[in-house]
Amino acid sequence: MNQILENIKSRRSIRAFTDEPIDPVDLDRILEAGLWAPSARGLQTWQFTVLTDRTRISELAVAIAEQLQRDPSRYTMYEPTALILASNDRENHNGMLDCSCALQNMFLAAHSLGLGSVWINQLRGICDEAGIRPILDSLGIPPNHLVWGMAALGHPAGPAPEPPPRKGVVHYVK
Ligand SMILES: Cc1cc2nc3c(=O)[nH]c(=O)nc-3n(C[C@H](O)[C@H](O)[C@H](O)COP(=O)(O)O)c2cc1C
Repeated sequence: MNQILENIKSRRSIRAFTDEPIDPVDLDRILEAGLWAPSARGLQTWQFTVLTDRTRISELAVAIAEQLQRDPSRYTMYEPTALILASNDRENHNGMLDCSCALQNMFLAAHSLGLGSVWINQLRGICDEAGIRPILDSLGIPPNHLVWGMAALGHPAGPAPEPPPRKGVVHYVK
């Protein structure tokens, strides 16, 4: 099997990370993979906002937990060493889809570099809440943007989980 197909199949969502920071060169590579994702009409109206300060990541997790009335001691976004917030112009009807393509590119790039990643989904419905938007402002996320997904990244703290079985729904029409 070629390396790209092998990388796609062996990637798993990783939900525990060591304290070791990600090499900035590797982080740049991951972000570049996001920038090379397809986007509808090639608009690329997205922004990838990168946090590497764990205190900031933790503050964001606490704000999300409070907004969603979750237990902040349990909702930590898995304490990654880096977090990428993929946002897009709210007027772009394909903004979520474009960000999804970019996030998957970044997950695969991270895996190819020996790093772990997982999608964090809880921000997308609450970006404009009073407890959240000022934080997004402070991170430099444009006010016309919605965060469609986040990538938690870091060095895996343990082995990857067993792959969940594939539920095959491929249907060839002859
Ligand atoms: C749109 C989307 C949202 C997700 N949200 C979360 C999330 O908020 N937290 C989490 O731990 N995993 C999240 N995941 C990861 C899935 O749980 C994971 O991809 C799935 O269980 C399959 O496992 P695998 O990625 O190891 O193949 C999300 C995945 C997708 C595609």
